[in-house]
Amino acid sequence: MSISTTWPNRNSRSAELYERAKAVLPGGISRLQTLVDPFPIYAERGEGATIVDVDGTRRLDMMNNFASLIHGHARAEVIDAAAQAARNGSCFAMPTEAEIALAELLCARISSVDRVRFCNSGTEAVMLALKAARARTGRARIAKIEGAYHGMYDYAEVSLDPAPHNWGNDPNSVRFATGSPQAVLDDTVVFPHNDTEAAERILRDAGDSLAAILIDPAPGVFGMIPMTPEFVVMIQRVAHDIGASIIIDEVIALRLGYHGAQAKFGIEPDYTTFAKIIGGGFPVGAVGGTEDAMSVFSHERGKPLNPSSGTFTANPVSMSTGLATMELMTPEAYAALDAMGAHARMVAAQAFQAAGVEGQVTGVGGMFTIHLHGRPITDYRSAYPIGDEAARGKALHLALLEAGFIMSPRLSAFLSTAMTFNDIDRFGTALEAVLQSQG
Ligand SMILES: Cc1ncc(COP(=O)(O)O)c(C=O)c1O
Repeated sequence: MSISTTWPNRNSRSAELYERAKAVLPGGISRLQTLVDPFPIYAERGEGATIVDVDGTRRLDMMNNFASLIHGHARAEVIDAAAQAARNGSCFAMPTEAEIALAELLCARISSVDRVRFCNSGTEAVMLALKAARARTGRARIAKIEGAYHGMYDYAEVSLDPAPHNWGNDPNSVRFATGSPQAVLDDTVVFPHNDTEAAERILRDAGDSLAAILIDPAPGVFGMIPMTPEFVVMIQRVAHDIGASIIIDEVIALRLGYHGAQAKFGIEPDYTTFAKIIGGGFPVGAVGGTEDAMSVFSHERGKPLNPSSGTFTANPVSMSTGLATMELMTPEAYAALDAMGAHARMVAAQAFQAAGVEGQVTGVGGMFTIHLHGRPITDYRSAYPIGDEAARGKALHLALLEAGFIMSPRLSAFLSTAMTFNDIDRFGTALEAVLQSQG
């Protein structure tokens, strides 16, 4: 029997592994984002900008583990750092010099960050930042942008996927996980991205009940639509007036600039959350902030107001790979990613035009999202797919996989320094062909 290396092939090794996985993992997976229909593609190895799957098929990786691999796969400097750290012992219930070095880099680059507290994921970073803001203000409630993803902490995932039937006029606080307590919904205020007037009214109504306003300057879920300058000014002014802390989530957005997305957008936060690229492909998270804001983590005057710990926190492997990765991210490397991102958005838009299919490309820096409609997009609701758009998006995602290009299931891409303009041009050609064939 000849086995095709293309996917999905019911006789492939990926299909076989998925059958095995279903017997021991719920739904056969460990992570929802890895699921594609009819079965996930199992990775064998990564080489720079390419992933080779267990059936030997090579694809251009434009997803980079959801924006965590800014240098692509197995970059030599990063792997050397990992090997050296692991040889010396991978974790200790003692601090190591590696955590100081990575914190020094973040403090030197990000002007609002005087102190850093590490953890193990972006979810944890957001949770710790929200708890820190509560400890600092003595208030319980938080505010977040409708549709923005900030990980799995109950409060942060409110209104992650509201739909027209439940999203309300002003955004309702909509449960994401079944069983999430009503108290969580009551303590989470939701406001629309970039609607300055409505957001200001909602935030001021919540007033001094709010510990924190949690923002992402270009939320990934609905296409990395940058915050407008007016919106940023409003957030700063309202946070100041009501005495709430600003938390900027740079778990992804840190890839937008050497001094952080906050410098690019003119945001002066109290807290910043980090993860993904600061681990260089190994698990990590961190909260940074001003000395005053971060003092809630400190034990120097007795029990910290916001105690934090974690068995693998600041382990020297993640700290060393993070440092190696971030040192390679020079201002020139950021500029090159920005240029590649602009080229990708242009090439993808041209593909839609040449194929005569309605669609658009949004994004900023080295990231972009494809949408299968032409309606102006400013926020979660205007990006929301209607009619057959979601089904067509899924078909496009699968066809691109078959053509050798890995995007996220929501058709997002996060570019890496391992990619070339030639890779982007190949992607543009494939996109045009797929759009043409799908009509
Ligand atoms: C903006 C943002 N915040 C937080 C998270 C959660 O990070 P993690 O997956 O490391 O828990 C993510 C993950 O994609 C994210 O995109």
